[in-house]
Amino acid sequence: MNSYHIKSLEAYFSTYRKSVENPEKFWGELAEEHFTWHKKWSQVLEWDFNKPEISWFKDAKLNITENCIDRHLESKGNKTAILFEPNDPKEAAQHISYAQLAEAVNQMSNVLKEQGVQKGDRVCIYLPMIPELAYTVLACARIGAIHSVVFAGFSSTALATRINDCDAKLVVTADGSFRGSKTIDLKGIVDEALDQCPQVHTVLVAERIKSEIAMKDGRDKALAPLLKAASTVCPATIMDAEDPLFILYTSGSTGKPKGMVHTCAGYMVYTAYTFKNIFQYESNDVYWCTADIGWITGHSYIIYGPLANGATTIMFEGVPSYPDYGRFWEIVEKHKVNQFYTAPTAIRALAKEGDQHVEPYDLSSLKVLGTVGEPINEEAWHWYDRIIGKGNSPIVDTWWQTETGGILISPIPYATPTKPTYATLPFIGIQPALMDDNARELEGKQVSGKLCIKFPWPSMARTIWGDHKRYKETYFSAFDNMYFTGDGAIRDAVDYYRITGRVDDVIIVSGHNLGTAPIEDAINEHELVAESAIVGVPHDIKGNALFGYICLKELDTDLDPKSISLSINTLIAEKIGPIAKLDKIVICPGLPKTRSGKIMRRILRKIACGEGKELGDISTLLNPEIVAKIKSIVS
Ligand code: WT7
Repeated sequence: MNSYHIKSLEAYFSTYRKSVENPEKFWGELAEEHFTWHKKWSQVLEWDFNKPEISWFKDAKLNITENCIDRHLESKGNKTAILFEPNDPKEAAQHISYAQLAEAVNQMSNVLKEQGVQKGDRVCIYLPMIPELAYTVLACARIGAIHSVVFAGFSSTALATRINDCDAKLVVTADGSFRGSKTIDLKGIVDEALDQCPQVHTVLVAERIKSEIAMKDGRDKALAPLLKAASTVCPATIMDAEDPLFILYTSGSTGKPKGMVHTCAGYMVYTAYTFKNIFQYESNDVYWCTADIGWITGHSYIIYGPLANGATTIMFEGVPSYPDYGRFWEIVEKHKVNQFYTAPTAIRALAKEGDQHVEPYDLSSLKVLGTVGEPINEEAWHWYDRIIGKGNSPIVDTWWQTETGGILISPIPYATPTKPTYATLPFIGIQPALMDDNARELEGKQVSGKLCIKFPWPSMARTIWGDHKRYKETYFSAFDNMYFTGDGAIRDAVDYYRITGRVDDVIIVSGHNLGTAPIEDAINEHELVAESAIVGVPHDIKGNALFGYICLKELDTDLDPKSISLSINTLIAEKIGPIAKLDKIVICPGLPKTRSGKIMRRILRKIACGEGKELGDISTLLNPEIVAKIKSIVS
């Protein structure tokens, strides 16, 4: 069997056929040939989307870190596993070999164990993009603790919500982080969060910015001396295929953030296999994904997928604009990067700054370019292709979600002919369906509908932490016997998919799903605010910008709208993080609602986009008169 590495369109089609005609045979053979197991499965797949219950490689025993580290030691011990590129280009890059990674992860594993962490315990990781972040993630996996990484741009309130939801008792953080020319007081944010998390008994603090920080007696411990004293040997805990590997929170249009639970075996097999093929990784390549490990992209395609393939993966601490807008390209030249994976929002921001930031650098090492997180517009696609890829690096527009664990729709470079703005074909094993408004599947070509997946794939999230009912309602209730993605898509004349964007109230800003609900909840806590509604409006760089409609408790207030807007954005930054600030705030006397009291965001979105003339029939609203008032305020 030779389907692990797909190198042509014919091979793609024949492998795809095998994967859907007999999924169990296909995934079983692939898992057996390319991974290390302590015990084989009793059954490859067991599933029922109605319950929903999904299990891959049932009863198999393994540890993902043995697959990502140990098994490479003999042949690749000296190969660079993680190439750490610091925020400041004057600071030297660190080449961490597989052998060094093994030692560091084992030390970290032993430190966690000494602090009482056991299999199944949740560990919250709130770290900048420094090597300790990778060590901690992998150490949790090694000892069977469930990691919950929280993006270090989230505020103390957002952090506390996530710590409490999964009842983590240990937090790993740093004394601070570098971000461009700024430093951020991460430890201060953790301290504030922990006022609301009495169960947290230990905080391990990595040293990064060497700032004077307050350490709470009995709770806070400097990480470096503990690591130094720890043994470099730590046997991997043997895990069941379906034991949770990690929780990662993602926002929705309602309710609190959802802790998506990913499990060991299926996640490993699928992220490794997609990584190999979608980036066409060859053994001496240097691969770089610019995402933060705080998002699923970083979990799957900085850590697990690349390391499972014995790859060299870059971890970049900084930002694309520091010390100038050429930073990405300087790094590509310096480390001779072969695969480069980033977000459309970064591409648009860099394109806007002009080609003079790209021109000084030699980008000839690049073989594959990737995008993820949101639809890429035609203009950005062509700039990326022409200016970065020089017309000879295929672009893989990869569509997937926190929930899917790995990439589901994407070209395979050098096999699938690309088409601007199209994610193109389903990856091996993925069976998409487009559904119409009457829940009927749209067959054939040139159709547009709601994107669902008809059959399980190995890396799908198995549940929402502590709320299986919500998992069922969110993903398996809209359509019978299918996983509903929340996205709309088009299928064209050659069966290529183009993702058109969310069909629910979720808004993707700069590739991040921030969720309307947490933002509205934050705003509604403002003492002057009665209620609010957030909608997305198209934005040149960010894809979508947030537009907020705010109703005040008292209509006659002396405060000017500017200072109210400012204080609302300050509150959002405090409650969620600066990334969720609103671009525009409109104070209005009421919000359009259905008779059942649901806010009609569709109408608000149209008004915000300047399409207030095309609202259609609004007479069935509870309060149709409010629409004209809002229109006159916005215009
Ligand atoms: C949503 C998932 C996947 C990791 C980063 C985001 C949008 C993602 C694409 C793409 C068009 C995309 C979808 C999806 N999205 N990739 N290539 N083209 N849209 O993960 O925060 O879970 O967001 O991002 O709307 O549902 P996430």
